[in-house]
Amino acid sequence: MFDGPLNHSIIGRAQDKGIIETDVHNLRKWTHDKHQVTDDYPYGGGSGMVMKAEPFFEAVDELREKNKGAKVVLMTPQGEPFCDAKARKLAKLPGLIILCGRYEGVDERVRLIADMEISIGDYVLTGGELPAMVLIDAVARLNPGVVKEAESTAKDSHAENLLEHPHYTRPPEFMGKKVPDVLLSGDHGKIEKWRREQSIIRTAERRPDLITRANLTNSEKELARRVTEKNHD
Ligand code: ADE
Repeated sequence: MFDGPLNHSIIGRAQDKGIIETDVHNLRKWTHDKHQVTDDYPYGGGSGMVMKAEPFFEAVDELREKNKGAKVVLMTPQGEPFCDAKARKLAKLPGLIILCGRYEGVDERVRLIADMEISIGDYVLTGGELPAMVLIDAVARLNPGVVKEAESTAKDSHAENLLEHPHYTRPPEFMGKKVPDVLLSGDHGKIEKWRREQSIIRTAERRPDLITRANLTNSEKELARRVTEKNHD
């Protein structure tokens, strides 16, 4: 499951360059029975299986030893919602040990070894693998040198609780829709101003929950307020 997202494209190249390193482990490695069983029936009955605590504990013991300072993250739909600010905090850590649950759930005691529990959204996936890859991708690209220009993650959507401005490339006119003149003007001051305004307008239109948390000047707040009012008409 992990091969595509981790070993190709931007994340793959970042690994080739040695900027980041990922290792995928099979929990069965930390079992001691012939069939390498990692799940069992739930106490109290019910459908589905529960992942056993012991393999997680042994795995984390060994991986913490090898990755000093790494934090242990349990991927679970019951975790703290993942966001840009969280990704930036995690990117500063020396490493992450990410635990992926499967089946119906993991034994409650696994939570004891996790430094944090993270959810990638209010929906349930069949396992923690895809959420782990989402987390790895979002955190990895914040490391210097992973994406091309140093500034390009600073202006990401969500970086300052603002969505990013629209982008255009050639042709200058497509299906009757023109690229805004300002982008062809060569006037970098004007372009920056336009982009900032667009970013505020977009966020106010689409994500009123975010705009209230953005750091805006008084005139920018006024712009956002006008957009929000118009949307409510
Ligand atoms: N495992 C299953 N669903 C998940 C979610 N939404 N976030 C994190 N881990 C999960």
